[in-house]
Formats: sequence, C-alpha cells, structure tokens
Amino acid sequence: MHLLRCLRKPWVRRGTIARHMSLTRRDWLKRTASAGGALLLPNATGWPAAQGRAGGSAVQLSGPVPPRERLLADFGWRFHLGHASDPARDFGFGQGRVFDKVGRLFTPSGARYDDSAWQPVDLPHDWAVDLPFENAAELVDFGCKPLGRNYPATSIGWYRRTFDIPAGDNGRRLAVEFDGVFRNATVALNGHLRGTNFSGYAPVRYDVTDLVTYGGRNVLVVRVDATEREGWFYEGAGIYRHVWLEKTPPLHVAPNGVFATSEVAAGTGRVRIANEVMNDGDRAVACCIASAIVDGNGRTVAAATTPVVSVAPHKPHAFTQLINVPSPSLWSPDAPHLYRLVTRVLPHPTGIPVDQYETVFGIRSIRFDAANGFFLNGQRLALKGTCNHQDHAGVGAAVPDAVQRFRIARLKAMGCNAYRTAHNPPAPEVLDACDRLGMLVLDETRLFSSNEEGLSQLDRLIRRDRNHPSVFAWSIANEEWSDQANERGRRIAASLVRRAHELDPSRPVTAGMDSGYENGPGITLAVDVQGFNYQRENLDAFHAKYPSLPAMGTETASAYATRGIYARDEARGYVSAYDVNKPDYGATAEQWWSFYAARPYLAGGFVWTGFDYRGEPSPFKWPCISSHFGIMDTCGFPKDTFYYYQSVWGQAPVLHLFPHWNWPGREGADVDVWCFTNLERVELFVNGSSAGSQTIAKHSHAAWKVPFAPGTIEARGYRADGSSPVLIARRETTGAAAKVLLKPDRAAITADGEDVSIVEVQIADAQNRVVPTASNGVSFSISGPGRMIGLGNGDPSCHEPDRPAALTPATAARSAFNGLCAVLVQATRNPGTITLEAASPGLERAIAQIAASAGAPRPTL
Ligand code: GAL
Repeated sequence: MHLLRCLRKPWVRRGTIARHMSLTRRDWLKRTASAGGALLLPNATGWPAAQGRAGGSAVQLSGPVPPRERLLADFGWRFHLGHASDPARDFGFGQGRVFDKVGRLFTPSGARYDDSAWQPVDLPHDWAVDLPFENAAELVDFGCKPLGRNYPATSIGWYRRTFDIPAGDNGRRLAVEFDGVFRNATVALNGHLRGTNFSGYAPVRYDVTDLVTYGGRNVLVVRVDATEREGWFYEGAGIYRHVWLEKTPPLHVAPNGVFATSEVAAGTGRVRIANEVMNDGDRAVACCIASAIVDGNGRTVAAATTPVVSVAPHKPHAFTQLINVPSPSLWSPDAPHLYRLVTRVLPHPTGIPVDQYETVFGIRSIRFDAANGFFLNGQRLALKGTCNHQDHAGVGAAVPDAVQRFRIARLKAMGCNAYRTAHNPPAPEVLDACDRLGMLVLDETRLFSSNEEGLSQLDRLIRRDRNHPSVFAWSIANEEWSDQANERGRRIAASLVRRAHELDPSRPVTAGMDSGYENGPGITLAVDVQGFNYQRENLDAFHAKYPSLPAMGTETASAYATRGIYARDEARGYVSAYDVNKPDYGATAEQWWSFYAARPYLAGGFVWTGFDYRGEPSPFKWPCISSHFGIMDTCGFPKDTFYYYQSVWGQAPVLHLFPHWNWPGREGADVDVWCFTNLERVELFVNGSSAGSQTIAKHSHAAWKVPFAPGTIEARGYRADGSSPVLIARRETTGAAAKVLLKPDRAAITADGEDVSIVEVQIADAQNRVVPTASNGVSFSISGPGRMIGLGNGDPSCHEPDRPAALTPATAARSAFNGLCAVLVQATRNPGTITLEAASPGLERAIAQIAASAGAPRPTL
C-alpha cells in the first residue's frame, strides 16, 4: 500500500497551517525548491492513515502540481460609463457583434485597446454614489440616482482589467468569481463572451481555463447594465463586491464543494462532511480525501481519511465523512467558536496531496419548536433581529469588509443577535463578520421563482453560504403579493423548499408574508417556519389554526425616526425620534417587542431596519433621499430607540435620557422628556428639582412634560427595591460650537489597500460636549498613505456629494447633521501614518492620526 507508506512519512513544519488563500505560487516555488522538490504543507498533529484506522501518522506532501491559489482581483481596474441607447457611446455594444461565431466581444476587449481615458478604480465600486441626486418621482424609492430607462447615459458601466498569466499555469483550472455585480453583467475574457449574469446579488463563477492566454497578457471586460431594478430600494450600480481569480490543479475540491453540518449529542459534536471532488483531467484518477478539524487555537482535534475511489475524467465525485469532535466548543452569539476544516485531495498511489481547501464552520445545533420558538444548542433563544439593506453612508453598495464588521459590531452593541439579509443574498463578508462576532443570520434569496434562474440563484446562495454557523434559516420570499396566498405560490414555494432541503437538509426554510397566512392556501403550506411581516392578520388565531408550524417575525416595526430631531418637519423631511412614528401596518419598537416577548410560540423577530438605507424615504419624498426606518442612521450613529432595544435585548442596566437640552427661544415651553431603561424606577430632575418619579412597566418607557429652562436634566434610575441609583443620565445645555473633534473607530489599521477606519466627526462646545443641533460645514484634508473613500452625516435629506471629487481626492467637505458626520479613511498598501485634518470656519481644527501598519495583504492578482 504505497498510499499508506506515504502517509507514514515524518512530518515537517509543524503548527503553521498554510491557508489555501495565502499560499502564493511564489511561496510554493520557494518551498518546493527549499525542500528539494518536495512541497511541505504543514499539519499540526498529523493525518490518520485511512478511515477506520487510528490517526496520528504524519505525512510529507510533495508533488509536481502547484497548490490552489485564490487571488483577490479588486485592484487596478479601469472604469468608463457607457450608454444604454447609443452604441457609439457604448463602445460599439449593440451593433450585432456580441455573439458572432468566434465570440469576439466589443472593442475594449482588444489587448491593445487604449484605456488611458478610463477612470482608475479599485473594487468594490458603486458608480451610482458619484451621480448627482435628482428629484424625479420614478427615482424616489431607489435613492434618487439617475439610473433607468430615462437615464441611458448613466445606467451602463464598463470595467476593464488587464493581467498576465504565466505560461506555467497551463494545465491548471482557472476561474473568475464575481461576488456581486449590480446588475446584468456581460463578462468577456480576451474578446470571448464568457457569460451573462442577470442577478445583482447572486455570486457567479466562470471557468476561464479555455480562454486564458498563457504566458501573456489577458483582458477581462465587464459591461454592467443597471437600467433595470430588482428591488424597491437603492441597489447601487457596478462591481460592488470582490472579484477573485482562482487557480486549481485539475483534480481539486469542486467550487463550494465541502459542506460540513453538525449535531451535538451527549457532549460530542458529530460533523458530517460532504466533499465534492472534481476531476478536470482527461484520465480517471484514484484518490481519497483527508480531512482535519482544527480548533481556534490551531490544534487538530479530529481527522479522518476516506477510502480510495476512482474519479472518472471530467466528472465529480462525492465523498462523505462522519467525524466526531469530543467536547466541542459550541458556536453561539455569546461565544462564537469557530473551527477550520482542512480538506486535502490525495491521489492514489502516491498519497501526495494535490489540493488543499479550507472551510470555516461551527458546531452548534438549531431547532424550531412550534410552541416554544427557536432553540440554539438546546436553549431557547429569542431572535432579537434586524433586517438590513446593504448600503452604507459614503460608499453606497460598495461596502469594504472593515465597514461590514463595523456594522455588525454596532448591531451587537445594541443587544441584537440576528440579521436578515433583506431582500437578497448578502456579501460573503457580512456572513464572515456574523460568524466571528456572533450574529445569527436569516439568509434570503432575491427571486421568488422556481424557473431556472430562480432555482440557480437559490442554488448559488445555499452552496456558498451553507457552512456559516451564523446562518440558521433560508428565506425564499418576501411579500409576494400576487402569489403568497394562492396555490401557485404554494407550488413555487414547494419547489424552492425542496431544492433548499436537497442542498442543505440542516436548516429550515421560511418566507416573509405580510398577508394571506391565516386564510390563504399559499406559501404557508410549503415552508418549515412561518414568517410574519407585521401583524396585519391575527397571529394568535394563526397559531391556533397551525399549532405545529413554528413562526417568527420576519419583519416587524417599520417605525420611523430621524436622528436628533424631536419635532416633525415636513419641509425638510424629518420625523421626531420619539418612538411614536409608524405606518398604519407597522408598530413602534415598544409595541412589537412587547407583543412578541409575551408569546413563546413566536421565536422573535426582525425589526425593519437596523440601519437607515438609501431609497424608500418614508413618510416623505424629496428632499428626502434615504429611509428613516433605521435604529441607526446611514452612518451607524444611534437614534434614541437604539437604547430601547439595548434595554430590552441586552443584559447590562441601561438608562437613556432624551431629547437634548438645547432649545434656545423655547424657554418655558413644555418639552417631552423620555427615558429608555431596564431599571424599574426613574426620577427626573430639571436643574436640580424633581419633576417626579415613575415606575417603568416591563418593555415600556418613562415620559414627562417639563418646561424648558437652560441647564441640566438628570435621570436617576433605581431597582424596584433600591434607594441609591444604579445609573444616572444627564443632558446639558451646551455652549456654542467651538471645535471639531475626530474619533476614529480604530486608530491602527492594516496597510493592505482595503482596511478602513471610520472616523466620527463631532462638533463640540468648549467643554467637548457635542452640540446636538450643530450643522457646521467641515472640510477635510488627508495626507500620508490613506484616502477618503466616503463621507456621510446621516441626514436623510442631505444632497452633498458622498465622495471627494476625483480630481482632488485629498480634500473633501461635509456638513454635520445634529452635531455629527463621518469620514471613511482607507489605507493604501504603504505603511505609515495617515493624517486627517478637519477644519470649520470659526472652530478649532482637529487632527487625527491613524497608523497603517504593514500586515499580510491578501494574495492579489
Ligand atoms: C415591507 C417591505 C420592506 C420595506 C418595508 C417598509 O413591506 O418588505 O422591503 O419596504 O415594508 O416599511
């Protein structure tokens, strides 16, 4: 048994697991040379010989095939707007040459095409952010950017990227992956049409092995057509997520080919692994799979090897394994333990691994109970969730990974434990952040359709996302008004549910329905968990009728509030931030949570929404260009209800007093003063005099009406039986704006060309108190190895540009909204100190320094 002999060879380089993502071809060549031709891939404790045998033998890995490489292809693109109706301004597109018999595609595909007039851009990129806001009824819901049939000159974008592929890559499989392009992307490599992906959200992967020029220059061109929309909200335009080039040996783990599910029984994690191996070679190959599970400390805690199987040429083969992990560290929002599954493909008889692939996963159990809600690891867990669209202030849909982490961390700080990717597949980095920070995810497809496209989008979503421990359920629909309550809807849903179960038997499927669940014969009859959008029908009556169908609130609240505003202002499009504003179908924070918290059969719910987003500017239209539904604004600055949720969802005592106490000219007039708290009693003092003490009903708030007098309001919060306050909150009348303050969320970032520090900009008085009504204009300049990639202030009616002008990227301006604005500072690939300076007429200027230190940038194309 040659294989077994190989597997017994001594182990070299212990403890430094090489990630397939970080091992470059150069590293490989270097290592191969230094190992006398043997490629030495590390292992912490060694591999078992074969399934059923005791583990522990070590293995030396060597071979003629370079390892898998996954290269980030985000840098060095060129961008140019095209034209939706004029071929002359669309690089000739639309003149009948797309599908000619050699597949040659449009002029910019030529290797010698001069793209020097195109704008240099790095991905992720959303060109809609740079378009002006326009006041047109047809654009209101979509963020007022000129995209669509009537805006042909701004609805098409072209992207061009050239790169070299070494001659030695001939014989490997090469694929280009797009995580998300909005939308209708036509992709050509070296003048050959490779594919068209309609979806603005589903990832797509193209094998380009046949099209590559080996040992020479390659030209990748993408024409993006954002004329049509998929939703009713801002969706961006362009290649707004990452692009990858992946190189694999001919015998390799298939794309998204490893799927690990787990069960926990009697203190043991049973990990079931499906491994799909693809043989892209011309001959059958006998091989096996060796899998190792590595814990968060880098220790291999379990491993197994499959029997050897012959894989036919150009065919896949599915290997399965069942591996026990004794006493696993379970994943949960409070303790998000992760494991790494390292998969190697070992051809027989050499036993020398030719491919290594890594999958991050978690061990946890989930279950829904129709009477008692959702259970994680055997414990009931109320889903304290938010729905979210994907855009952020300054950058639109092109959200850097660091900003994704920032957003999930902000939600966690509110006590939130669940996230619904409304209404589309998310960027993979959202799920990575949820895995790592501890946030359950309801992962949603865009298209409620069982046609080929609908099934394909669902398929791509589930295959990509099914290893994330954060994902606890799939959502196949949202308010499908024409079909949710009828037999056609049931049939479509049943087909999607069937497909989801085939791809992932471990998770339930739900659908967000806003009506038709109580009486309709529709989608309800097909799903595993009923999703309620709002309470339009009687939920208790529904539960009585379907006592064995679990249920949750897929969408709740839709309450609106504008940060720092305490009176309705229709002209400017603002509503007050008291928890009182909602559409007729919606509920305030307090209303929906009190209702859900009182019903164990409801597993919890998802507030519409965690963050404000562009588009849907309810209840007003222009000048509003953003929604007000968020618990935070588009920058992530909290509105007051943030603290309501923190008080009912979190563990720590909370006492939040509002509004601010700057009401010049309103002396003597009554002001509504509220308190969100999870303490039982609160006493309010106005300039030292008690305005009364209130007992707070569970999930409720305290409210007083007190005449305004400049000075201080103070709330003292007590336990029911306590005589000394647990918390004290104050709001003081501030002085005039005197200075700008800069507060980076991270003062040290990585010089990898991607990392971002989110700098909070405060307008403060002489005593460093934020002036809560300040709207001073601030100008920014940046020096050192950093750039400003976006600015925002959370004002839903602000039409100032989100980005510095392309010609003067080192300077930018933004006005504060109610005392605050934000700048997103991105590192370049050069280490050093980034200096951001902020100035405002008449105010003391501020300087922030952000250290960008050399890290290990991801391997890039
Ligand atoms: C829901 C819909 C959401 C959003 C929300 C606003 O009906 O599912 O996408 O439009 O209303 O309240």
